[in-house]
Amino acid sequence: MFKSLFTLLNTKIKNEILLLFFLNFIVAFFEVLSIGSIPIFLMYMMDPINLVEKIPLDFIKEFFKNFLSSSDIFKNLKTVLFLLFTIFLIKNLIILFNSIYQAFFNRRISTLLASSLFNKYLSEDYIFFINNKPSELIKNMESIGIVRSLITMMLVSAKEILTIVGLIVIIGVSDFKISLLMILLGIIFMIMHKYKIAGVLVYYGKKSYKYTESRLSLINDFFGSIIDIKINNKEKFFSNLFKRYFWSYESARIIDKLISSMVRPIVEMTSILIMILVIFVFLIEGKTFIEIIPLITLLSLSFIRILPSVITLLNTLNRIKFESNQLKYLLKNISLIEKEFENKKDKKVINFEEKIEINNLSFSYLEKKIKSIKNINVTINKNEVVGIIGKSGSGKTTLLNNISNLLKFDTGEIIFDGTKIFPNQNYILKNLSYIRQDIYLLDDTIRNNILFGEEENENSDNKIQSSLIKAGLEKFKDKLDLIIGHKGSKISGGENQMLGLARAIFRDPKIIFLDEPTSNLDYKTQRNYLQTIKNLGITTLIIAHRKEALNICDKILLMKEGSIVDQGSLDYFKKKYSNFETYIN
Ligand SMILES: Nc1ncnc2c1ncn2[C@@H]1O[C@H](COP(=O)(O)OP(=O)(O)OP(=O)(O)O)[C@@H](O)[C@H]1O
Ligand SMILES: [Mg+2]
Repeated sequence: MFKSLFTLLNTKIKNEILLLFFLNFIVAFFEVLSIGSIPIFLMYMMDPINLVEKIPLDFIKEFFKNFLSSSDIFKNLKTVLFLLFTIFLIKNLIILFNSIYQAFFNRRISTLLASSLFNKYLSEDYIFFINNKPSELIKNMESIGIVRSLITMMLVSAKEILTIVGLIVIIGVSDFKISLLMILLGIIFMIMHKYKIAGVLVYYGKKSYKYTESRLSLINDFFGSIIDIKINNKEKFFSNLFKRYFWSYESARIIDKLISSMVRPIVEMTSILIMILVIFVFLIEGKTFIEIIPLITLLSLSFIRILPSVITLLNTLNRIKFESNQLKYLLKNISLIEKEFENKKDKKVINFEEKIEINNLSFSYLEKKIKSIKNINVTINKNEVVGIIGKSGSGKTTLLNNISNLLKFDTGEIIFDGTKIFPNQNYILKNLSYIRQDIYLLDDTIRNNILFGEEENENSDNKIQSSLIKAGLEKFKDKLDLIIGHKGSKISGGENQMLGLARAIFRDPKIIFLDEPTSNLDYKTQRNYLQTIKNLGITTLIIAHRKEALNICDKILLMKEGSIVDQGSLDYFKKKYSNFETYIN
């Protein structure tokens, strides 16, 4: 896991992490120094001569001997206290600086990570979104924080381990048996963790993410079906389902919480046992209280400092295990390279002008062996309005999605003004506007809904107003700042559709696709809507479920089971098919 994390990092971030490591190292050093200084201070207070005798290096010993004999005891004490204070001051200043630096580092890393996953999803093809549930993608986006935590945990762990090692060394200098005992206990803990606890955590971690996903999915469905829930009186059903998912999620989390909460008592009890043991052994060895006090002070201070470290470390270890599956997924799918979002480089840009020729086009959705589009051959000429009719499921929407490259066709070719497109090729039809029945409007102003990411300039408001007027929405022309609500819930269904038309017109398309655009419109508005389309005078493909739409068509294609089975003018169809109406509804 750490390896794949490191392959993600670029040099700049690696350097920063190195710097943070270095800072943490200094913090650890001062931690040990400051804790070690207190028992030494105590020894100094009780018996300065004896303390100096314990110094191993001769020249330092001489220096301190001189120091002790040079002036009176109060002056010395002042110097010693000043030293003590300075050590603590430096330590805390470094800790403060480290935290500030880390906070800024975190901000950058988090933004980088989250945008990286978001951009990855943005650059996926439409088919990816057909095959992946939004709730799962939301869950992944939401869990991205754990990668940052992994980096932070690494840094913190390094510091804590260094501190622990330092303290164990100091204790070892005073009495190596105690250090040995501590190391032994540590090893036992680690082995137990690896063979007993880790597996349980991974198992429940996986479960907890599964239920997070189900819960998000349910919430999505709940908002989407609120009207059906109310009408069908199904509140209780959804309420129970939600309770069940939440319960299961919390159950999976219980094990994680139980294990975390067990860490502290176990570590604490072990420490106190060590203390008691040490005191007993010393008393049996016949040492005096005065001799024991500095060591006991060192031990207590070390335990007070080590305890939280050990608890943090163990809990960190547990966290990593618990989240390991999600972490693996994220590490595989993110990058830490700072870059602007780029559209796929191999995307061909098509500036449509004249004619579309479709030859032998076929397509099937991934999971289905059956072809949803079969051997389509058709030519669409400049400024032609082409209607597509056919029963439900005959492939009308799929065909438009194939031509617009939302779905990449499997075999055949499409030729735009002589530019040939091959199966699975990426391209973008630059001057296409595609209006669907289920247009998704942003919970934003009319202006931003029409702009939809286009740059604003001094003319854009005028252009927005004229698009609104053309689309039959004069009433909104002076209300560009009106917020239309979630999915346009603060305006009518028909107005939603007309706003979709205004957005399409605003982009000055050369070609326009319409998938059942008029279903929410009254008769008169529908006529105006269709007339507006006709007046645009541009190449148009319109999927028609109402016969009025066919009145504006120059040519009609009849689809059946993925194929075009007939084509001709409206009169031709009316004459040939007595049951013509059944193909529309
Ligand atoms: N995501 C999908 N995965 C698998 N099969 C699909 C998918 N979407 C559509 N299909 C199938 O492809 C065929 C064509 O569907 P399409 O949506 O193009 O029909 P349509 O003519 O637009 O129908 P409607 O008039 O109801 O909108 C249908 O048989 C449908 O079941
Ligand atoms: Mg359709």
